[in-house]
Amino acid sequence: MKTRAAVVLEAPGNYEVVTVDLDEPQAGEVLVRLVAAGLCHSDDHIATGDLPVATYPMCGGHEGAGVVEAVGPNTEGVKVGDHVVFSFLPVCGRCHWCATGHQNLCDLGAHLLVGGRFDGSNTFRMSYEGRPVGQMSGTSTFSEYTTVDVRSVIVLDKDVPFEAACLVGCGVVTGWGAAVNSAETKPGDTVIVMGVGGIGIHAVQGAAQAGAGDVIAVDPVPFKRDMALKLGATQAFASMEEATDFARSKTNGQGAHAAIVTVGVTTGDHIASAFASICKTGIVVVTGIGPMNVGLPIVPAELTLYQKRIQGSLFGAANPTADIPRVIRMYQEGALKLDEVVTTRYSLDQIAEGYRDMHAGKNLRGVIIF
Ligand SMILES: NC(=O)c1ccc[n+]([C@@H]2O[C@H](COP(=O)([O-])OP(=O)(O)OC[C@H]3O[C@@H](n4cnc5c(N)ncnc54)[C@H](O)[C@@H]3O)[C@@H](O)[C@H]2O)c1
Ligand SMILES: [Zn+2]
Ligand SMILES: [Zn+2]
Repeated sequence: MKTRAAVVLEAPGNYEVVTVDLDEPQAGEVLVRLVAAGLCHSDDHIATGDLPVATYPMCGGHEGAGVVEAVGPNTEGVKVGDHVVFSFLPVCGRCHWCATGHQNLCDLGAHLLVGGRFDGSNTFRMSYEGRPVGQMSGTSTFSEYTTVDVRSVIVLDKDVPFEAACLVGCGVVTGWGAAVNSAETKPGDTVIVMGVGGIGIHAVQGAAQAGAGDVIAVDPVPFKRDMALKLGATQAFASMEEATDFARSKTNGQGAHAAIVTVGVTTGDHIASAFASICKTGIVVVTGIGPMNVGLPIVPAELTLYQKRIQGSLFGAANPTADIPRVIRMYQEGALKLDEVVTTRYSLDQIAEGYRDMHAGKNLRGVIIF
């Protein structure tokens, strides 16, 4: 079939909406009609080239929710008409990582920046003018229709609004889990969240829910700081220097227990400023992604003598099949705010404007409504 989709033809480049060819679902695949898709910064990285992918053109998008239109033969767990959210990390349920409670690190992840089928056949479900098109994270949610592996979708209750649901497949759990799982936030802790975008706002909410005494949001954009204060931050500052001074003032000069880095284009310098803000045994959680160059300007002895920790965090170290339903339930019960996070809605044709707005700091999360 044909569908309209936003693709990056080469990097550096921009999203362009073109008509692509899309395969009907084969065994183990489903065809989904998109209803809503979030504009995560990671899709911008594949356009700028900060996160180079193996296949260009690449159809972007890995936050999305929609309706199942067709199901391949012998495909279990999903039926036509189901409402689904995409998980940007597929779950095989069988590999070492899935079997040991680390579904976020499932071995299927090896395929996600190639964007073809997960079976090693080097085949693609999407093409443009005869060239294979990669599907970002295996999902390519910037498309009116997409065909994906059934292991990339999670069925939703029909009363969950698509607009909120689309966020949970990446931004919500990534931020919330960074605070709750990776930073191991405990009641009374002093936690800094550096960068209040579509990911950081959920780290703010997660730290508050886990009982942090101080939830210190850092962002140069005043609107982001205002939103952080509305959704759980106790303080908000424009710079890490101010945040670090405040954290020390609350901890007898020691520093924050955790600093979570969710800056849009994360560099070694950002991680180093987070490292400087934490106390002995404190933890820096690195969620943000940036250019692939080497370099983390920290003093190694500080790591040793102060027992500081630096912890990477993918999808908030969470398990999609358990934690996506968990955050949806918290949203339905009012404990987690998602409607407030969607600040602007765009059509698919306005996607470039959506990313311009992200760079201009106008959105917590922009969402495409199909
Ligand atoms: N680890 C994962 O699983 C995972 C998943 C999704 C996204 N990401 C990455 O997380 C990062 C954040 O994504 P997003 O969608 O929230 O981006 P975003 O653009 O919505 O938000 C980034 C925020 O960082 C702020 N910022 C910029 N420079 C700053 C600085 N020096 N100090 C403090 N704040 C600063 C911006 O003003 C913005 O509010 C990106 O790098 C993205 O690729 C990681
Ligand atoms: Zn994302
Ligand atoms: Zn697995």
